[in-house]
Amino acid sequence: MNKQLLGESLHAYVRTFGCRANYSDSEKISGMLAEMGFGFTKNADSADVIIFNTCAVRENAESKVFGNIGSLVHQKRANPDLIVVVCGCMVQQEHIMTKLHDTFRYVDLIFGTHVLHEFPEMLTKVIIERKRIVNISENHKVIEDLPVRREFAYKADIPIMYGCDNYCSYCAVPYVRGRERSRTPEVILGEIRDLVSQGVKDFLLLGQNVNSFSYGFAELLQSIEAIDGDFKISYMTSHPKDLSKDLIDVIAQSEKISHHLHLPIQSGSNRILQLMNRGYTVEEYMSILQYARIKVPGISITTDIIVGFPGETREDFDATLALLKSARFDSAYTFIYSKREGTKAAEMEDPIPAAVKSEWFTEMLAVLDESSGGAYERFVGKTLRVLCEGESRSGKRLYSGKSREGVIVDFDPRASSGEDIIGKFVNVKIEEALKWAVLGSVQLTVDN
Ligand code: 5AD
Ligand code: SF4
Repeated sequence: MNKQLLGESLHAYVRTFGCRANYSDSEKISGMLAEMGFGFTKNADSADVIIFNTCAVRENAESKVFGNIGSLVHQKRANPDLIVVVCGCMVQQEHIMTKLHDTFRYVDLIFGTHVLHEFPEMLTKVIIERKRIVNISENHKVIEDLPVRREFAYKADIPIMYGCDNYCSYCAVPYVRGRERSRTPEVILGEIRDLVSQGVKDFLLLGQNVNSFSYGFAELLQSIEAIDGDFKISYMTSHPKDLSKDLIDVIAQSEKISHHLHLPIQSGSNRILQLMNRGYTVEEYMSILQYARIKVPGISITTDIIVGFPGETREDFDATLALLKSARFDSAYTFIYSKREGTKAAEMEDPIPAAVKSEWFTEMLAVLDESSGGAYERFVGKTLRVLCEGESRSGKRLYSGKSREGVIVDFDPRASSGEDIIGKFVNVKIEEALKWAVLGSVQLTVDN
């Protein structure tokens, strides 16, 4: 590579699609690139290496990636030294890997989720030997000590487990991320201790189902809580079938654990939940929800819903609407079912036309708007402790951060006497509730 021969540093552009687990993998990819001496660019046009870390959860995520790869054809023609890398969940699927390999001849390196740690070796080979590499072999070990290049100084995502064993019938994750495996508490606690001493104040523990962490999730949270320092802990995602009342009791007694539960229900129909292989009923779900709301007043509960699962009837869909009305979620992430090759649901009859699913989807958004609208009124007049994350993007107030409930708080720093408050905790008196955020003013000076 010319630039390299001239001793100039090469620049990488890393683009991530999908969930927080993928962003966490990208932080490791960037960490490995930094150790190899790469610089970084936010502009793909000027990059020497372009990396797409991809998602397989829904078809539209995959189409987006193919579109992005397709648009590189001119850049690659103009600069044959450009290295194109496609990795992550999407390419772990054999049919996608084959399509990429056969149709996009200018993709130099294709690797799956299991061989992240082999990235420097593979990339070096591609650069030096100028040959294409495809590697989607499986490896179910937990690999520790990969370097991490974090985007923020005050917050950190910490994977506590990888993979998923739940095999929800619609979901590609168990196939592309492999069997569930947990990191040990010692390693996790060591990493968090280090980061606390470096000033990190916000930890997000990651796993597809954190409640099935092999060494006990409630115990892990208690051990993290016991680490000296002022910081907050949140986690995602919880699975309703494994979320115990004990865990809610731990949250209720804690100082540092977030008062936010992301608890995907997926459907309000027990028949569909069973077909989805979710392992709980609507009644069981509602009983956890009620317990959480009693034990942790003000707790924020968000969810995921899939519309148009194979065989879903109007009655099933009505049950989901009824659930949304009675559960009053703070917000819900909503998706139209997307068929994933190799899953159980892909083999089920799916007679409802796409147009009807779209109509249901729109109908559901209107119901959600109604049922979740006003949810944040409960915070008006209260003082929330907020970790200031930066300037407000809404333009409604100067700064923005998140409360312990995971709620976006936009605020003016009135009483904070011009201190640099980004990355610090402030107390904000809430004056107004919007649909997606609350607005307030700093009440006391920065307390940390
Ligand atoms: N189709 C639509 N939505 C899906 N999800 C997972 N798989 C699919 C699929 N095949 C949704 C679920 C999950 C969220 C991360 O994505 O709601 O909780
Ligand atoms: Fe997919 Fe279900 Fe595992 Fe979540 S719990 S990642 S929806 S299989």
